[in-house]
Amino acid sequence: MLAVGPNGVGKTNLLEAVHLATQGFSPRTRADAQIVRFGAAAARIALRGSRAGVGFEAEVVIRPGEGKRAKLNGAALRTAEQLRGELPTLVFTPDRLVVVKGSPAARRAYFDRSLARLLPGRAAVPVEYAAAVGQRNAALRRVAGRLSPAEALAPWTAQVAELGAALVAARSEAIAVLGEGFAVKAAALGLPDGRLAYSGRVATVGELDARLARDLERGSTGAGPHLDDVGIFSGERDLRSFGSQGEQRLAVLALLLAEAEALVGRRCGPPLLLFDDVLSELDGMRREALVALLPAGGQTLMTSTAADALSVEPDQLLVVGPGTVRAS
Ligand SMILES: Nc1ncnc2c1ncn2[C@@H]1O[C@H](COP(=O)(O)OP(=O)(O)O)[C@@H](O)[C@H]1O
Ligand SMILES: [Mg+2]
Repeated sequence: MLAVGPNGVGKTNLLEAVHLATQGFSPRTRADAQIVRFGAAAARIALRGSRAGVGFEAEVVIRPGEGKRAKLNGAALRTAEQLRGELPTLVFTPDRLVVVKGSPAARRAYFDRSLARLLPGRAAVPVEYAAAVGQRNAALRRVAGRLSPAEALAPWTAQVAELGAALVAARSEAIAVLGEGFAVKAAALGLPDGRLAYSGRVATVGELDARLARDLERGSTGAGPHLDDVGIFSGERDLRSFGSQGEQRLAVLALLLAEAEALVGRRCGPPLLLFDDVLSELDGMRREALVALLPAGGQTLMTSTAADALSVEPDQLLVVGPGTVRAS
Protein backbone atom coordinates (compact mmCIF):
# COMPACT_ATOMS: atom_id res chain seq x y z
CA MET A 1 0.00 0.00 0.00
CA LEU A 2 1.36 3.41 -0.96
CA ALA A 3 0.37 6.61 0.84
CA VAL A 4 1.14 9.67 -1.26
CA GLY A 5 0.82 13.38 -0.69
CA PRO A 6 2.94 16.53 -0.57
CA ASN A 7 5.17 17.37 2.39
CA GLY A 8 3.48 18.15 5.67
CA VAL A 9 0.02 16.69 4.94
CA GLY A 10 0.23 13.89 7.51
CA LYS A 11 1.75 10.79 5.86
CA THR A 12 4.17 10.17 8.72
CA ASN A 13 1.30 10.86 11.09
CA LEU A 14 -0.75 8.08 9.45
CA LEU A 15 2.12 5.63 9.68
CA GLU A 16 2.77 6.60 13.29
CA ALA A 17 -0.90 5.97 14.11
CA VAL A 18 -0.73 2.47 12.62
CA HIS A 19 2.43 1.76 14.61
CA LEU A 20 0.89 3.06 17.80
CA ALA A 21 -2.25 0.95 17.42
CA THR A 22 -0.26 -2.22 16.69
CA GLN A 23 2.70 -1.72 19.06
CA GLY A 24 1.40 0.57 21.76
CA PHE A 25 4.06 3.23 21.26
CA SER A 26 5.20 5.75 18.67
CA PRO A 27 8.32 5.06 16.60
CA ARG A 28 9.05 8.81 16.75
CA THR A 29 8.73 9.86 20.34
CA ARG A 30 8.36 8.48 23.85
CA ALA A 31 6.61 11.69 24.89
CA ASP A 32 3.00 10.61 24.41
CA ALA A 33 1.71 14.17 24.90
CA GLN A 34 3.29 15.06 21.52
CA ILE A 35 0.96 12.63 19.80
CA VAL A 36 -2.19 14.42 20.90
CA ARG A 37 -3.36 17.08 18.43
CA PHE A 38 -2.37 20.57 19.56
CA GLY A 39 -5.17 21.97 21.73
CA ALA A 40 -7.03 18.64 22.03
CA ALA A 41 -7.56 16.80 25.34
CA ALA A 42 -6.85 13.29 24.07
CA ALA A 43 -5.94 11.15 21.09
CA ARG A 44 -7.66 7.94 20.04
CA ILE A 45 -6.59 5.45 17.40
CA ALA A 46 -8.87 2.59 16.42
CA LEU A 47 -7.61 -0.01 13.99
CA ARG A 48 -9.30 -2.98 12.39
CA GLY A 49 -7.28 -5.64 10.66
CA SER A 50 -6.68 -9.31 10.19
CA ARG A 51 -3.71 -11.46 11.01
CA ALA A 52 -3.20 -15.07 10.10
CA GLY A 53 -6.72 -14.88 8.64
CA VAL A 54 -8.40 -13.83 11.89
CA GLY A 55 -9.92 -10.38 12.33
CA PHE A 56 -8.95 -8.15 15.25
CA GLU A 57 -9.57 -4.67 16.56
CA ALA A 58 -7.11 -2.57 18.50
CA GLU A 59 -7.64 0.74 20.21
CA VAL A 60 -5.23 3.09 21.94
CA VAL A 61 -6.30 6.21 23.85
CA ILE A 62 -3.77 8.77 25.08
CA ARG A 63 -4.81 11.35 27.62
CA PRO A 64 -1.81 13.41 28.79
CA GLY A 65 -1.38 13.03 32.53
CA GLU A 66 -3.34 9.78 32.62
CA GLY A 67 -1.12 7.67 30.43
CA LYS A 68 -2.15 5.33 27.66
CA ARG A 69 -4.97 2.84 27.59
CA ALA A 70 -5.17 0.05 25.05
CA LYS A 71 -7.75 -2.54 24.10
CA LEU A 72 -7.49 -5.59 21.93
CA ASN A 73 -10.77 -7.02 20.65
CA GLY A 74 -12.61 -4.96 23.23
CA ALA A 75 -10.64 -6.27 26.23
CA ALA A 76 -8.50 -3.78 28.15
CA LEU A 77 -4.76 -4.56 28.20
CA ARG A 78 -2.62 -4.04 31.28
CA THR A 79 -0.22 -1.84 29.30
CA ALA A 80 -0.36 -0.53 25.75
CA GLU A 81 3.05 -2.11 25.12
CA GLN A 82 1.42 -5.54 25.46
CA LEU A 83 0.21 -5.03 21.89
CA ARG A 84 3.81 -5.58 20.85
CA GLY A 85 3.69 -9.26 21.63
CA GLU A 86 0.46 -9.66 19.65
CA LEU A 87 0.94 -7.81 16.41
CA PRO A 88 4.49 -7.54 15.13
CA THR A 89 5.14 -4.37 13.15
CA LEU A 90 8.53 -3.40 11.77
CA VAL A 91 9.15 0.18 10.85
CA PHE A 92 11.67 2.09 8.79
CA THR A 93 11.93 5.83 9.23
CA PRO A 94 14.89 8.02 8.26
CA ASP A 95 15.71 8.27 12.01
CA ARG A 96 16.41 4.54 12.05
CA LEU A 97 19.87 5.15 10.61
CA VAL A 98 20.91 5.48 14.26
CA VAL A 99 20.75 1.70 14.42
CA VAL A 100 23.92 1.67 12.31
CA LYS A 101 25.54 5.03 12.96
CA GLY A 102 24.38 5.68 16.52
CA SER A 103 25.73 4.62 19.89
CA PRO A 104 26.13 1.01 21.03
CA ALA A 105 23.14 1.64 23.32
CA ALA A 106 20.95 2.37 20.29
CA ARG A 107 22.03 -0.92 18.67
CA ARG A 108 21.51 -2.91 21.87
CA ALA A 109 17.99 -1.50 22.17
CA TYR A 110 17.26 -2.35 18.52
CA PHE A 111 18.60 -5.90 18.62
CA ASP A 112 16.93 -6.58 21.97
CA ARG A 113 13.57 -5.60 20.48
CA SER A 114 14.25 -7.97 17.57
CA LEU A 115 15.21 -10.64 20.09
CA ALA A 116 11.85 -10.18 21.83
CA ARG A 117 10.01 -10.74 18.54
CA LEU A 118 12.17 -13.61 17.31
CA LEU A 119 12.38 -15.45 20.65
CA PRO A 120 9.09 -14.55 22.35
CA GLY A 121 9.72 -17.05 25.15
CA ARG A 122 12.77 -15.01 26.15
CA ALA A 123 11.36 -11.54 25.40
CA ALA A 124 11.70 -10.54 29.06
CA VAL A 125 15.40 -11.45 29.42
CA PRO A 126 16.80 -8.03 28.35
CA VAL A 127 14.46 -6.23 30.74
CA GLU A 128 15.20 -8.60 33.62
CA TYR A 129 18.93 -8.29 33.08
CA ALA A 130 18.71 -4.48 33.00
CA ALA A 131 16.72 -4.57 36.25
CA ALA A 132 19.34 -6.82 37.89
CA VAL A 133 22.14 -4.46 36.83
CA GLY A 134 20.14 -1.53 38.19
CA GLN A 135 19.69 -3.29 41.53
CA ARG A 136 23.35 -4.23 41.72
CA ASN A 137 24.37 -0.65 40.92
CA ALA A 138 22.11 0.68 43.67
CA ALA A 139 23.62 -1.87 46.07
CA LEU A 140 27.16 -0.84 45.01
CA ARG A 141 26.39 2.76 45.93
CA ARG A 142 24.92 1.72 49.29
CA VAL A 143 28.01 -0.35 50.07
CA ALA A 144 30.33 2.46 48.94
CA GLY A 145 28.40 4.85 51.20
CA ARG A 146 28.68 2.36 54.08
CA LEU A 147 24.90 2.05 54.22
CA SER A 148 25.03 -1.71 53.75
CA PRO A 149 27.64 -4.43 54.23
CA ALA A 150 29.54 -5.80 51.23
CA GLU A 151 27.74 -9.15 51.57
CA ALA A 152 24.52 -7.43 50.51
CA LEU A 153 25.90 -7.41 46.97
CA ALA A 154 26.17 -11.18 46.56
CA PRO A 155 22.58 -11.94 45.47
CA TRP A 156 22.66 -9.15 42.87
CA THR A 157 26.04 -10.23 41.57
CA ALA A 158 24.72 -13.77 41.15
CA GLN A 159 21.65 -12.49 39.29
CA VAL A 160 23.68 -10.24 37.02
CA ALA A 161 25.94 -13.18 36.10
CA GLU A 162 23.06 -15.59 35.54
CA LEU A 163 20.76 -13.28 33.59
CA GLY A 164 23.77 -11.90 31.71
CA ALA A 165 24.62 -15.38 30.46
CA ALA A 166 20.98 -15.90 29.43
CA LEU A 167 21.01 -12.56 27.61
CA VAL A 168 24.22 -13.31 25.72
CA ALA A 169 22.83 -16.70 24.68
CA ALA A 170 19.54 -15.18 23.48
CA ARG A 171 21.28 -12.33 21.64
CA SER A 172 23.69 -14.76 19.97
CA GLU A 173 20.77 -16.86 18.76
CA ALA A 174 18.68 -13.94 17.52
CA ILE A 175 21.64 -12.25 15.83
CA ALA A 176 22.66 -15.51 14.14
CA VAL A 177 19.17 -15.77 12.62
CA LEU A 178 19.19 -12.11 11.59
CA GLY A 179 22.77 -12.33 10.28
CA GLU A 180 21.93 -14.99 7.72
CA GLY A 181 19.02 -13.05 6.28
CA PHE A 182 20.97 -9.81 6.56
CA ALA A 183 23.68 -11.06 4.20
CA VAL A 184 21.11 -12.16 1.61
CA LYS A 185 18.96 -9.01 1.75
CA ALA A 186 21.97 -6.68 1.82
CA ALA A 187 23.40 -8.36 -1.28
CA ALA A 188 20.06 -8.03 -3.08
CA LEU A 189 20.04 -4.32 -2.21
CA GLY A 190 23.56 -3.92 -3.58
CA LEU A 191 25.52 -4.04 -0.33
CA PRO A 192 28.02 -6.89 -0.74
CA ASP A 193 29.19 -9.34 1.94
CA GLY A 194 26.91 -8.11 4.69
CA ARG A 195 27.73 -9.49 8.10
CA LEU A 196 26.68 -8.98 11.71
CA ALA A 197 29.32 -9.51 14.37
CA TYR A 198 28.34 -10.14 17.96
CA SER A 199 30.54 -11.53 20.66
CA GLY A 200 28.72 -11.01 23.92
CA ARG A 201 30.71 -10.62 27.09
CA VAL A 202 29.32 -12.64 29.95
CA ALA A 203 30.70 -11.50 33.30
CA THR A 204 30.89 -14.41 35.73
CA VAL A 205 30.51 -14.02 39.50
CA GLY A 206 34.30 -14.51 39.77
CA GLU A 207 34.97 -11.72 37.27
CA LEU A 208 32.48 -9.39 38.91
CA ASP A 209 34.00 -10.06 42.33
CA ALA A 210 37.51 -9.48 40.96
CA ARG A 211 36.57 -6.01 39.74
CA LEU A 212 34.58 -5.07 42.83
CA ALA A 213 36.91 -2.26 43.95
CA ARG A 214 36.54 -0.52 40.57
CA ASP A 215 32.78 -1.06 40.47
CA LEU A 216 32.43 0.38 43.99
CA GLU A 217 34.40 3.43 42.95
CA ARG A 218 32.31 4.10 39.85
CA GLY A 219 29.05 3.03 41.49
CA SER A 220 28.16 0.86 38.51
CA THR A 221 28.78 -2.58 37.06
CA GLY A 222 31.64 -2.24 34.60
CA ALA A 223 31.44 -5.61 32.82
CA GLY A 224 28.67 -7.60 31.20
CA PRO A 225 26.39 -7.61 28.17
CA HIS A 226 24.87 -4.20 29.01
CA LEU A 227 28.08 -2.92 27.40
CA ASP A 228 27.90 -5.11 24.28
CA ASP A 229 27.81 -3.89 20.72
CA VAL A 230 26.91 -5.47 17.39
CA GLY A 231 29.21 -4.93 14.43
CA ILE A 232 27.52 -4.28 11.07
CA PHE A 233 29.89 -4.96 8.20
CA SER A 234 30.03 -4.95 4.44
CA GLY A 235 33.12 -7.02 3.66
CA GLU A 236 35.86 -5.74 5.94
CA ARG A 237 34.26 -2.32 6.26
CA ASP A 238 32.57 -1.42 9.51
CA LEU A 239 29.45 0.47 8.45
CA ARG A 240 29.04 1.92 11.94
CA SER A 241 31.97 4.27 11.36
CA PHE A 242 32.78 3.96 7.67
CA GLY A 243 29.45 3.47 5.93
CA SER A 244 28.05 6.21 3.74
CA GLN A 245 24.56 7.44 4.60
CA GLY A 246 23.27 5.40 1.65
CA GLU A 247 25.00 2.22 2.81
CA GLN A 248 23.77 2.72 6.35
CA ARG A 249 20.23 3.06 5.01
CA LEU A 250 20.59 -0.17 3.00
CA ALA A 251 21.91 -1.94 6.09
CA VAL A 252 18.89 -0.84 8.16
CA LEU A 253 16.55 -2.01 5.38
CA ALA A 254 18.38 -5.35 5.13
CA LEU A 255 18.05 -5.85 8.90
CA LEU A 256 14.33 -5.11 8.77
CA LEU A 257 13.74 -7.42 5.80
CA ALA A 258 15.79 -10.19 7.41
CA GLU A 259 13.68 -9.99 10.53
CA ALA A 260 10.44 -9.86 8.53
CA GLU A 261 11.37 -13.05 6.76
CA ALA A 262 12.34 -14.77 10.00
CA LEU A 263 8.92 -13.86 11.43
CA VAL A 264 6.94 -15.27 8.50
CA GLY A 265 5.28 -18.50 9.52
CA ARG A 266 4.85 -17.48 13.14
CA ARG A 267 1.57 -17.75 15.00
CA CYS A 268 0.79 -14.11 14.38
CA GLY A 269 1.44 -14.27 10.63
CA PRO A 270 3.91 -12.13 8.70
CA PRO A 271 4.67 -8.76 10.29
CA LEU A 272 3.20 -5.50 9.13
CA LEU A 273 5.92 -3.40 7.51
CA LEU A 274 5.94 0.39 7.59
CA PHE A 275 8.38 2.36 5.44
CA ASP A 276 8.43 6.11 5.83
CA ASP A 277 10.16 8.26 3.20
CA VAL A 278 12.47 5.56 1.93
CA LEU A 279 11.62 5.45 -1.78
CA SER A 280 12.90 8.93 -2.59
CA GLU A 281 16.29 7.95 -1.18
CA LEU A 282 16.71 4.83 -3.33
CA ASP A 283 17.64 4.59 -7.01
CA GLY A 284 15.30 2.77 -9.40
CA MET A 285 17.09 -0.56 -9.14
CA ARG A 286 17.08 -0.56 -5.36
CA ARG A 287 13.41 0.40 -5.24
CA GLU A 288 12.68 -2.62 -7.37
CA ALA A 289 14.89 -4.80 -5.19
CA LEU A 290 13.14 -3.58 -2.05
CA VAL A 291 9.69 -4.42 -3.44
CA ALA A 292 10.92 -7.87 -4.52
CA LEU A 293 12.24 -8.53 -1.00
CA LEU A 294 8.96 -7.85 0.81
CA PRO A 295 7.72 -11.00 2.55
CA ALA A 296 4.93 -12.83 0.75
CA GLY A 297 1.48 -12.71 2.27
CA GLY A 298 2.20 -9.74 4.52
CA GLN A 299 1.13 -6.15 4.30
CA THR A 300 3.38 -3.16 3.71
CA LEU A 301 2.56 0.52 3.98
CA MET A 302 4.96 2.96 2.35
CA THR A 303 4.82 6.73 2.17
CA SER A 304 6.02 8.87 -0.69
CA THR A 305 5.54 12.31 -2.17
CA ALA A 306 5.22 10.77 -5.65
CA ALA A 307 2.50 8.36 -6.79
CA ASP A 308 4.91 6.79 -9.31
CA ALA A 309 7.66 6.12 -6.73
CA LEU A 310 7.18 2.37 -6.90
CA SER A 311 8.36 0.19 -9.75
CA VAL A 312 5.06 -1.72 -9.57
CA GLU A 313 1.42 -0.76 -9.11
CA PRO A 314 0.62 -0.77 -5.40
CA ASP A 315 -2.35 -2.94 -4.40
CA GLN A 316 -3.82 0.18 -2.91
CA LEU A 317 -3.00 3.85 -3.34
CA LEU A 318 -3.91 6.21 -0.50
CA VAL A 319 -4.02 9.91 -1.28
CA VAL A 320 -3.21 11.91 1.84
CA GLY A 321 -4.32 15.53 2.09
CA PRO A 322 -4.17 17.86 5.09
CA GLY A 323 -6.11 15.85 7.67
CA THR A 324 -7.66 13.46 5.12
CA VAL A 325 -6.88 10.03 3.66
CA ARG A 326 -8.69 8.83 0.55
CA ALA A 327 -8.36 5.49 -1.22
CA SER A 328 -7.94 6.11 -4.93
N1 LIG B 1 0.58 17.11 18.00
C1 LIG B 1 0.32 17.68 16.83
N2 LIG B 1 -0.88 18.32 16.60
C2 LIG B 1 -1.14 18.90 15.42
N3 LIG B 1 -0.28 18.90 14.37
C3 LIG B 1 0.90 18.29 14.52
C4 LIG B 1 1.28 17.64 15.74
N4 LIG B 1 2.50 17.11 15.60
C5 LIG B 1 2.89 17.41 14.35
N5 LIG B 1 1.94 18.11 13.70
C6 LIG B 1 1.96 18.61 12.32
O1 LIG B 1 1.41 17.66 11.45
C7 LIG B 1 1.80 17.95 10.12
C8 LIG B 1 1.91 16.65 9.33
O2 LIG B 1 3.13 16.05 9.59
P1 LIG B 1 3.67 14.73 8.89
O3 LIG B 1 2.79 13.59 9.16
O4 LIG B 1 5.06 14.62 9.34
O5 LIG B 1 3.60 15.10 7.33
P2 LIG B 1 4.25 14.32 6.08
O6 LIG B 1 4.85 13.07 6.58
O7 LIG B 1 3.10 14.10 5.14
O8 LIG B 1 5.27 15.24 5.49
C9 LIG B 1 3.07 18.77 10.24
O9 LIG B 1 2.82 20.04 9.73
C10 LIG B 1 3.33 18.84 11.74
O10 LIG B 1 3.83 20.08 12.14
MG1 LIG C 1 6.80 12.44 6.63
